[in-house]
This record gives sequence, C-alpha cells and structure tokens, in this order.
Amino acid sequence: MVEELRTINVARIREDFPILKRQVNDKPLIYFDNAATSQKPNAVIDAVDRYYREYNANIHRGIHKLAEEATVAHEEAREKVAKFINAKRTEVVFTRNTTEALNLVAYSWGRANVGKGDKIVLTIMEHHSNIVPWQLVAEEKGATIEFVKIDENGELRQDEVHELIDDSTKIVCVASASNVLGTVNPVKDIGRVAHRFGALFLVDAAQAVPHMPVDVRDIDCDFAAFSGHKMLGPTGIGVLYGKSERLEGMPPFLGGGEMIREVHTTGASWKDLPYKFEAGTPNISGAIGLGAAVDYLRNIGMQNVLDHEKEITRYALDRMKGVEGLNIYGPLNMGRRIGVISFNLGDIHAHDLASILDEDGIAIRSGHQCAQPLMEFLHIPATSRASFYIYNTEAEVDVFMEALEKARKIFAR
Ligand SMILES: Cc1ncc(COP(=O)(O)O)c(C=O)c1O
Repeated sequence: MVEELRTINVARIREDFPILKRQVNDKPLIYFDNAATSQKPNAVIDAVDRYYREYNANIHRGIHKLAEEATVAHEEAREKVAKFINAKRTEVVFTRNTTEALNLVAYSWGRANVGKGDKIVLTIMEHHSNIVPWQLVAEEKGATIEFVKIDENGELRQDEVHELIDDSTKIVCVASASNVLGTVNPVKDIGRVAHRFGALFLVDAAQAVPHMPVDVRDIDCDFAAFSGHKMLGPTGIGVLYGKSERLEGMPPFLGGGEMIREVHTTGASWKDLPYKFEAGTPNISGAIGLGAAVDYLRNIGMQNVLDHEKEITRYALDRMKGVEGLNIYGPLNMGRRIGVISFNLGDIHAHDLASILDEDGIAIRSGHQCAQPLMEFLHIPATSRASFYIYNTEAEVDVFMEALEKARKIFAR
C-alpha cells in the first residue's frame, strides 16, 4: 500500500496523519479530494489542542500571561506564513479563507477604485470565489468583466491575455493553478502585462501555495489569496497577501474591535497594517494551526512536495490515458500542471462514479467544481476530480484504477 518515492518518505509522512488509518466501507481510506481540503497531521492537531488546553485567551487585549502567550503564538504564525511566501509580516492579513480574502479586495479596493466603463479581466477557469465578488463590484460600479479563454490543452490563450488587457483594465485576477484543470498559469508573465497597462494583478493562490514554492515578491502580484485548510491547516483560517502600498491605500473591509486605533462619537481611526483589516476576535487557534502546517511543509520542502505530486500525477495520467471512454480535461504536459485530474468516464454521471468509488473507500470530488463558467465553456455539466497530496501513493492510484474499471463494467451492462 505504501512505498517510498524518490522525493519524500511517504510511509513516514502517512504515519503523521491519523485519519489515513481509518476504514471507509470496510476498505482503507484513499483520500483523493485534496483540492477541496487536505487532511491534517498530528503536528497541526496538537498545536490547536495545546492552545485550548494550555493558553486559551483573547489576543492583543489582555496583559495577563495567557493573553501574552496567545498573542505571541498568533503573531509567530503570521511571521511563519509571511516567510513561507516571501512577504513582510505586515502584508499578511488573516481571513477566514480564500473566498473572504478575495471578497476583501473586491469590496475594499474594488469599490474604491473601479468605476463606470472600467474593465476587470478574469479567466474562464476561475473558481466562483474569484468571479462572483467581481461581478458584484462590476454591477454596482457599471464596469465590465472579460474572461481569458483556454485552448484545447486547457491552457490560457496568450493572444487573449494580450488582447483583453488594455488601458481601461483596472485589475487582472488569475488562479495560479486551476482547481479543475490542474493548469499552472504563467502568472509572472500575465502580471507583467497587467502592470504595463497600469492595472493591478491578483493571484488566487488557493491551489498553488499548498503544492509548490510560491514567492509573491518574485511573482510581483499586488494581492494573493489562499486557504489554510488546503495546506494541512485548520478550516476557518485563510490569508490575504497585499503589497504594503496597496493595503495602506485601501479602506477597511469590516469595522469593529481590534481594527481601530481610536473611536469617538464623531468617527474613528484605524490601526496599522495588517490589523486594519482584522476586525473582531480572530481565529486564534486556526492561525496557530496554520503556523504548525507551514512548519510541517517547510520541513518537507515545497519543491519535494511538488515533485512528489508530479510523480503521482504522471503515473495516474499514464494509466488513465489507457482507459476506454475516459476524457481528461487539462494539460497532459507535466511541466504545466499540478496534481488535480478532472475527467469523465463515458456517459457515467460524475456523481454516480463518485458513489461507486466511495464503496471502495475512495474519496473523489464530483460536480461543477465551483467553476460553472468553465463547465459551460467545455460544454459539460460536471466532472469527476481526483487530486493528490504528499501522503498519496502509486499503490492508491492502482486501487483507484481498478475501481474505475469496475465502474466502466457496471455501466456498460
Ligand atoms: C482556485 C480556488 N480558489 C478559491 C477557492 C475557495 O477556497 P475556500 O472555499 O477555502 O474559500 C478554491 C477552493 O476549492 C479554489 O480551488
């Protein structure tokens, strides 16, 4: 079941994830739904547990010992996240998730800077989280939205990048890696085009930060958003990275405690970054858990994480290509993809396929993958999606292939 691959010691890693020991429908769990959320190692579970057992207190407020310890741990977590993506500590805003981070930018920066006749450029492979907030802004302000399409390999059409981004473009928002196609987009190049026209550049890094080295300074994006729960951390904690000069110029998103410097009956003033954007008691345990997740990933090394996932993906794609009636959506070129494989098997509905695989203890995702515009573009209602992480093995892919074959036979009857 478990083998040691070239890049990392998977057998040892699997020992760190208690959930991987459980059975589903009397079969060993095979968890291939990592693009939706990842499993959590003991180091993360223990960090959250320790906070509640040993130093639970509100932060930035009390001067007692517990408050001090909790504040230090929370801010250390911010420091770890900042280092992980090569940002400054003050440029890391904690949010609930990627979705909230994207809404923060759309609501705060978008409403203050997008006007009538302006253009927002997205791509057809965006997650709903990177579409709907912009639709709300565009509707309110009278702006338009244009979508860069994809070619037959599932890669962004570079001609459209150059055609659509122009002087009227205020912001360009692109997923670093697609949660449906697995495509890794050339964000650095797209950012350069955006900046040449004076537009800002935002990357939805929800499927990138958990799976590959990400350096926001190297990408030169103005904003980046990602979720803790997809990178071994707890749910309910996410990150908005913003360049200092961008965040400084933006009005607050939510108002309340924690984010103010002073409040008077006549008005209020805001704290410095990043606290201006963190109203109310934050997800303290979530941030501490995310810090532990970052430690865990750094210890493995993000290049090793990426290499391992590529190995598994290459193996899975090679085997899947041989299955009769199986359509794969996304690039087959390993250099331009992550470990997310969307597919359809003949006429079998994605939900039916997921149910059959579940009988064998295999967890995959089925549906529109929160990317209905992409489904419409591809003229399909849904896909099945297998997505891998550091603890997945080629032996698991073998079991998955047997289950696919079983499904094909059941539906061929
Ligand atoms: C590319 C991408 N963007 C945004 C999101 C939304 O993440 P969350 O639900 O954690 O806010 C996801 C989640 O699947 C995603 O894959």
